[in-house]
Amino acid sequence: MSTPVPISGQTRIVGIFGDPIAHTRSPAMQNAAFRACNLPYVYVPLLVHPPDLARAVQAIRAYNLAGVNVTVPHKERIVRHLDALSKEAELCGAVNTVVNKDGSLFGDNTDGRGFLASLQHRGFLPHQGDIILIGAGGSTRAVLVSLIRGGSQRITIVNRTLAKAQALVRTYRTLGQTKLEAAALDRLQDPAFLKKAALVVNCTSVGLHGEPFPPVAFASTSSRCLFYDLLYRPDLTSFLRQAHSLRRPTVDGRQMLLHQGALAFSLWTGQPAPLPVMSRALARALRPT
Ligand code: ATR
Repeated sequence: MSTPVPISGQTRIVGIFGDPIAHTRSPAMQNAAFRACNLPYVYVPLLVHPPDLARAVQAIRAYNLAGVNVTVPHKERIVRHLDALSKEAELCGAVNTVVNKDGSLFGDNTDGRGFLASLQHRGFLPHQGDIILIGAGGSTRAVLVSLIRGGSQRITIVNRTLAKAQALVRTYRTLGQTKLEAAALDRLQDPAFLKKAALVVNCTSVGLHGEPFPPVAFASTSSRCLFYDLLYRPDLTSFLRQAHSLRRPTVDGRQMLLHQGALAFSLWTGQPAPLPVMSRALARALRPT
């Protein structure tokens, strides 16, 4: 492991705003990257309770932090406190990375681009085939915007509350050339629906605590259909376990975490991220103790 760059008068501080925050693995990943690149940066967890968010944003300027990551529950609420937004952040209405440019705070969202990068890493391109997104919350929004901007041809948003999936379709219908549809959760049991899918993504919170996933006609998918769960656990989620048992390729949320972090690193430092270093640090940090 590389030697830490000593804290000095030159040290730049980056942090992560969240509540709760004790579980975050981002400090391990980012500090390993700063060390590997010999950069005088340090990344710290910052517990920010919702009523304190505006003051915490002011503190980015007051302490001249290089920037911050933003996690639950602040991603949407921080938007109104920033000076400028990237196109993605504007389209998602959410920010996961802030860059301090001489006191002007620029909000970006690397979640969706991180998701795309992790797919590309697996050799999957967004225009490769039909895509099913399960869920209609904030993480679906980030993934959806990036897939549309990446040139996907057809995406169906499946959600327990159909009206929320329909609302997403209405919001993003004109963003690109992608054909967008909404469907109810029981559509996942329809073999004909699953047959044409090239990618199925779980963007819901179902499975985080080991609970079973609603019924899906896994066996009707093509043998190359990629199953992606934005969640991750020490063991496989129910969603990925079922796909894996049918020998379908699978990816979990650690890959998105890694790639969104790599993009944030580059935004703060202007340098390419040392991906293998970050990947190893993340794996170590996620290892059960
Ligand atoms: P995030 O911001 O992480 O996407 P969210 O906005 O709370 O989280 O969205 C959670 C998603 O998980 C929603 O799509 C939710 O479905 P509803 O819109 O019907 O609430 C979905 N979800 C949560 N629990 C679920 C369950 N038991 N079965 C099916 N879907 C579920």
